[in-house]
Amino acid sequence: MAGVLLWVTLLHLLFLSGMVSSERVCSYQDVLDHLNLTRGNDVFTSTRPVLDHTHPTMVHLDVYLYAILAVIEKSQTFVPFIWIQLTWNNERIWWDPSQFCGISRVSVPKEMLWIPDLLIYEMIEKDDGPHSPYLYVSHDGIVLIEDEMKVVSTCKMDVHKFPFDTQRCNITFSSAIHIVTDIQLIPFSNSSRVTQASREVMQTQGEWEFLDMTVSRGKLILDREWDQISYTITMARRPLLHVINFLLPILFFLCLDLASFLISDQRGEKLGFKVTVLLAISVLLLILNDILPSMSNRTPLIATYCIVIFAFMLLSLLETILVTHLVERDSIHQETGIDRAPAYDCDNKPDHTPCHTCDSEEERRRGCCACICDVSGRKAPCEPLPVAEEVICSEQGESRLLLLILGDLRAVERTLALFASGRREGKLGYWTRVARRLNAAFFTIYLISVMLFISLMCKEWLN
Ligand SMILES: *[C@@H]1O[C@H](CO)[C@@H](O)[C@H](O)[C@H]1NC(C)=O
Ligand SMILES: *[C@@H]1O[C@H](CO)[C@@H](O)[C@H](O)[C@H]1NC(C)=O
Ligand SMILES: *[C@@H]1O[C@H](CO)[C@@H](O)[C@H](O)[C@H]1NC(C)=O
Repeated sequence: MAGVLLWVTLLHLLFLSGMVSSERVCSYQDVLDHLNLTRGNDVFTSTRPVLDHTHPTMVHLDVYLYAILAVIEKSQTFVPFIWIQLTWNNERIWWDPSQFCGISRVSVPKEMLWIPDLLIYEMIEKDDGPHSPYLYVSHDGIVLIEDEMKVVSTCKMDVHKFPFDTQRCNITFSSAIHIVTDIQLIPFSNSSRVTQASREVMQTQGEWEFLDMTVSRGKLILDREWDQISYTITMARRPLLHVINFLLPILFFLCLDLASFLISDQRGEKLGFKVTVLLAISVLLLILNDILPSMSNRTPLIATYCIVIFAFMLLSLLETILVTHLVERDSIHQETGIDRAPAYDCDNKPDHTPCHTCDSEEERRRGCCACICDVSGRKAPCEPLPVAEEVICSEQGESRLLLLILGDLRAVERTLALFASGRREGKLGYWTRVARRLNAAFFTIYLISVMLFISLMCKEWLN
């Protein structure tokens, strides 16, 4: 019985409270009407919203980095996408939320209220992106604006260490006209908070890795004084792509150039090979032109890297040309030497029947001469042909053919022997020996300087 009574009482109470709240319906417009906040009301838009003009309006600013859209070294442009939050106190606005069903904040169009005229010093292009047309007004007069913005800004970049560089770009907020006694800017979050929040909301970074963001207050002092807040964004380039695309290929070409010292000097292949490698490098150098700004206070290390490696390879090409020239000079000597070399004289060989030169065609046809006649018709070097002894005197054409072939083989053998002896150190021509030494010395110096240079570059780049 008591339970039923309790239920009825409860229901009754609920019904009553519903009646009460349905009596008091509030709309946002009620608040605006109470404030006299209408679109045409100049009181809210024309002047800085303070009751006493002597104290400045404190504008709290918060900026997070959403994305790094572009960093263009060539035009020194930095394009971040940022999220901005501005709050300040409008002293003309106040209402009691309890009188308006607990409404504590109202959103109104931006045109209806005074807004601090903040601008970004570095910004060079108007942002055409969509902006929120509203702002929030709280019952205690705190006005809040939140917006996103693509800031196309200038940033002085130092590409000395490209592609292992770290860039630092500023985004400086300041009032365009209000001096420090009218508007003061105060950062809402400190540097560590801003950095952490930016890391959390960061969408895309592209080639760049966001490192940190520091906030600092400053003053711009000309004839008057302006308050300003600087956000310094520090980011490091991810160098992998440039290393794979550019640095490594050049290094590989340098290795090829080093390896080309193994190619023999005798033939011209080495020269052609080196020229090809040099050309390949000069094609790669064209890429560099697209990346680096033409104006830079210090020579970029990458330019030094390319030019010095290019110079190395040029030197090695010149050295190869010199060596080829020397070897060629010697081979001319050697060729004349072959011609003048005394023929193997069978006359002096005691254990063989003396052999005279077969000057006449008749003698040769008889086939009794064991001499091979030089085709050139000069005084022929003779040789005994022990293998062919049985067939020598046969009148048959076949054997004569065999003889001729044998003779040719002998000639080849002789040439080969000459070559082989030529390869042995002591019997080299003078210039070839000079070329060899030059080559060895140059290779040693070349290798050492390349290694020194590469390690020096690495040290410069990575510290
Ligand atoms: C609003 O404006 C009306 C006249 O337009 C004025 O009578 C009224 O006092 C104003 N109310 C406030 C709160 O300023
Ligand atoms: C960025 O702002 C900081 C702090 O105001 C300043 O020290 C620094 O010189 C600025 N850097 C550039 C590139 O303007
Ligand atoms: C930065 O602000 C956070 C709170 O927002 C605080 O915990 C932290 O200690 C502050 N850091 C510094 C260096 O002041």
